[in-house]
Amino acid sequence: MTKKQLEESVAYLKNKGFDQPEIGIVLGTGLGQLVNEIQNSIEAHYNHIPFFPLATVEFHSGKLIYGTLEGKKVVVMQGRFHLYEGYDFLDVTYPIRAMRELGIQKLFISNAAGAINLDFRKGDIMLIEDHINLQGGSPLAFRNVAQFGERFVDMSAPYDKEMCERLVAIARREGISMKQGVYASVIGPQLETKAEYRMLKIIGADAVGMSTIPEVIVANHLRLPVVAVSVLTDECDPDNLQPVNIEEIIEVAGKTEPKMIRLFKELIKEI
Ligand code: HPA
Repeated sequence: MTKKQLEESVAYLKNKGFDQPEIGIVLGTGLGQLVNEIQNSIEAHYNHIPFFPLATVEFHSGKLIYGTLEGKKVVVMQGRFHLYEGYDFLDVTYPIRAMRELGIQKLFISNAAGAINLDFRKGDIMLIEDHINLQGGSPLAFRNVAQFGERFVDMSAPYDKEMCERLVAIARREGISMKQGVYASVIGPQLETKAEYRMLKIIGADAVGMSTIPEVIVANHLRLPVVAVSVLTDECDPDNLQPVNIEEIIEVAGKTEPKMIRLFKELIKEI
């Protein structure tokens, strides 16, 4: 990754009409309905944007969508890049850097995740308060990182306190029960064993998924305030573990998404 590549990606998007978006939004697996609410939208497929990684997984249509939502200019990633597709840490975080270069001032992230905390249920939303990176690498571990910012990025408070507090208040006001907890990320794509779910609980995770943390690390590198929510799609009870059903995970994500959309839209209005 070079500055010049980022500039070329952004020049392409600006030329398409992606004009000074304020907020970037990443939509996770099974979470795509938000894009139907965007007005005056313009789309750019990932595989048309210079230097973007190529989109693969069938669940993701893989595009950036620009437009207005609640009167603010937004850019939405419909589908993201995952390590489990064979991308590296620089690939999966490239779009975050591109959106920042386009001008975003805030980042909202969503994902589908398994519930480790058994007080949580599938269909719940969890605000990510903190995280545990189990992906065995970092999006900042590259040679010319200093050209892009600090190397030893502080992670004492990776999620923006003000946006988190606002989201908690919005959930309360809107009557949406939103949990709060720690998200752990694994590489995947295989799901976890019973022993791994037990371990995740012991080390303090409330939810587990295969994304988000590299993006959050890069947002912190870019001093970009970030807020993230998990849509809990399955319950990871090691003593009563059912075989995974990816269709069900996607279905639960889709059914739960309207709550997430309401939270995000209200947050956009307030910031
Ligand atoms: N593990 C990892 N990733 C996931 C899960 C899970 O149980 N559910 C949804 N994404």
